[in-house]
Amino acid sequence: MSLQWYPGHMAKAIREIKESLPKVDLIIEMLDARMPFSSENPILAGLKKGTPRIKVFSKSDLADPELNERWKNYFEQEQNIKVLMVSTKHPEKYRQLIPLIKKILAPKMGGAQNATVLICGIPNVGKSTLINTLVDRAVAKTGNEAAITKGQQRIKLDEQLMLLDTPGVLWPKVNNVHSAYRQAITGAIKEAITDNPDIAFYLAEYLLVNYPENLLKKYHLETCPEMPLEFFQIIGKQKGALRKGGEVDLDKISTSFLTDFRNGSLGEITLETPEMMQQELIEVEKMLVEKAEKKALNEAKKKKR
Ligand code: G4P
Repeated sequence: MSLQWYPGHMAKAIREIKESLPKVDLIIEMLDARMPFSSENPILAGLKKGTPRIKVFSKSDLADPELNERWKNYFEQEQNIKVLMVSTKHPEKYRQLIPLIKKILAPKMGGAQNATVLICGIPNVGKSTLINTLVDRAVAKTGNEAAITKGQQRIKLDEQLMLLDTPGVLWPKVNNVHSAYRQAITGAIKEAITDNPDIAFYLAEYLLVNYPENLLKKYHLETCPEMPLEFFQIIGKQKGALRKGGEVDLDKISTSFLTDFRNGSLGEITLETPEMMQQELIEVEKMLVEKAEKKALNEAKKKKR
């Protein structure tokens, strides 16, 4: 899958984030617990190094609890970045954020010093839900439209902390094809520009290998087929997702399968592990080197002509 698209409002939002960074004391990166690697914006990850960061994992209720722990350990032990898991199922977890920010900023804030905290994340990651829970009222708009209509917002968390809320942004070029699939699967990329059967097949392939028990349970199957197509034939018939002649409608069953994943009815699932991330980063690096070599070769050929 290749996504050659980048809405103008996202470019503007990234520019505004970069501009506000000099006055930011701490950055909160909101990540989707189902894909902590693929929801991490590489542009923002590389900015203002040395600024304290907290990674907040949203939707941890939808993710695999064992992998939640592995990811948390990975970031905290290997990168020395504090992780806070949150979920709408446990609103009390959101309330741990302010004390955590203050603990991290304590040496800087001292007595009554004020601090500015920037929060960023991809669209639909759960940023508005977090902010509204923190301040106990609807200050941030929920839903995808927010990214298009709003710019940065300053929200007073308490007497000392000012929160800079930024619109949900993706980045112009997702080099890792797996990350692009995972963003589409979770709904970070709008459905209108994705090909549902393509991403549903990718998801089915992953789940048939990594979470077969979840599929057996959800669709009352005795065994799991090996191939996604066979799987969709079975559940398509079961759900009555058929065309006029009686054959399975792959568009329809793909959409229904993705909805089952997104609303959590397939169970607690995480789409990537720290080991997968490391392997994919190596592949991306290799791909970029090959691309650069090819480009250099073509330019040398052009010069010769
Ligand atoms: P955003 O500001 O980052 O764009 O995200 P927002 O808070 O609007 O949340 C996006 C969707 O994710 C909302 O669903 C919200 O209820 C859901 N959500 C946020 N946090 C959690 C969580 O911890 N667990 C679960 N299960 N869901 C969470 P929605 O209103 O149905 O929007 P949509 O998914 O139809 O866009």
